[in-house]
Amino acid sequence: MRKIDIVIPVEAVAYDELSDVDRQLVDLAREATHRSYAPYSHFCVGAAIKLSNGEIVTGANQENVAFPSGTCAERSACYYAHATYPDAKFEIIAIAARGTDGNEVARPVAPCGACRQALLEYETLAGHDVKVILAGADEIYVLRSVKDLLPLAFSEF
Ligand code: THU
Repeated sequence: MRKIDIVIPVEAVAYDELSDVDRQLVDLAREATHRSYAPYSHFCVGAAIKLSNGEIVTGANQENVAFPSGTCAERSACYYAHATYPDAKFEIIAIAARGTDGNEVARPVAPCGACRQALLEYETLAGHDVKVILAGADEIYVLRSVKDLLPLAFSEF
């Protein structure tokens, strides 16, 4: 038997400790929560993706009365980004959320499994790590890559 420990480094930082571009992405992800359509869960998630062409694309969760038809913020952002700028590579994604009380969550929320898989596809396409910034009101987590959110990910290749 061989035991494999998978260690995932997460930096917990304050807003002021972020670089200018990372702060801008957090600001845009927070703003994007106000464009969420969440009449069922009242949980508003926003995402901002910085692309290699300098563009920043945002997304927000969009719910539907037929629940499974809704889409998370991360997938709304990443699909829009790649559908709009197919040649640009993802560089950084920031994610923020507001809870049912309308306030930003104190602790960051992390993407669901389906979003992790979708984001990993674009990290693989980029050919380099895509930094992940998970923003909460009290604390912000920074991960070096999407891979770190999805250890032992499925890969055909
Ligand atoms: N949601 C996201 O937008 N991103 C996630 O990674 C997890 C959950 C959304 C889906 C749904 O509209 C609401 O949050 C409550 O689950």
